[in-house]
Amino acid sequence: MSDLALSAAYDQIVAAGHQPQTRPCIRSFFDETTFTATHVVHDPRTRAAAIIDSVMDYDPASGRTSFHSAEQVVAYVRQENLNVLWQLETHAHADHLSAAPWLKKQLGGQIGIGADIVQVQQTFGAIFNAEPAFTRDGAQFDHLFTDGETFSLGDLPAIALHVPGHTPADMAFIIGDAAFIGDTLFMPDYGTARADFPGGSARTLYRSIRRLLSLPPQTRLFLCHDYKAPGRNTFVWETTVEAERQNNIHVHDGISEDAFVSMRTARDATLSLPNLIMPSVQINMRAGHLPAPENNGISYIKIPVNTL
Ligand SMILES: [Fe+2]
Repeated sequence: MSDLALSAAYDQIVAAGHQPQTRPCIRSFFDETTFTATHVVHDPRTRAAAIIDSVMDYDPASGRTSFHSAEQVVAYVRQENLNVLWQLETHAHADHLSAAPWLKKQLGGQIGIGADIVQVQQTFGAIFNAEPAFTRDGAQFDHLFTDGETFSLGDLPAIALHVPGHTPADMAFIIGDAAFIGDTLFMPDYGTARADFPGGSARTLYRSIRRLLSLPPQTRLFLCHDYKAPGRNTFVWETTVEAERQNNIHVHDGISEDAFVSMRTARDATLSLPNLIMPSVQINMRAGHLPAPENNGISYIKIPVNTL
């Protein structure tokens, strides 16, 4: 979608999303183990809702999964009497496991992700030598969003934007006046997402971020993570386009693409891999499902030695 078409589509969305009676209601749940914010967004009139970037708890020592984080989401959805239409993933996360299939069982909702997930499935399907039954065509998900695709949440119009760079398949979901931007920008005092995973690109990330920053200044931005910047004592996962343009330490207005790419590339070279990358990628490329059990009935997570 061209930026002109984007801004025309977005004008229509914000026209609805900024009316006080149709402004989306958002409640976020923060998992301090993986620093992940799960957002529940709903239309106040119809109660139609989407859950964005859910968390399945995972103990790497025991290999046990649990649902303490997701249970809080279920309790909130039931208390608010919401009708969950979507379980959205901004991307295939490398730092936490998705609870989307479990939440779908409890609450309903179609599991949606960006169409380029097939590229991620190809890359990691090869690295993990996934079983032939693991098709690398996105079929594990209920819906694959393409750039500029519109949808709705009750009365709220919404649009999906392809914002690659952190991974090839990242999407942002704009619902009313709120944009759920996954791992692109973080809080202004923390900067931006890393761009060194397979298929990532700092240059592409810069372009995706500038696209997000072309949204109206008052647009609310909801992030997938916060890590508390030095000097800040609380976790924060909501900001605005205006605040990012003025203050983001990596990409405020005036920072060139080349300057960003050098900074991001140098910084990424110092980062270690996320603690949960092995289980996360294997589960999340399967839309949150465990690998199929082997002939003893047990599911296994693999570790490729000397590969990542
Ligand atoms: Fe991520």
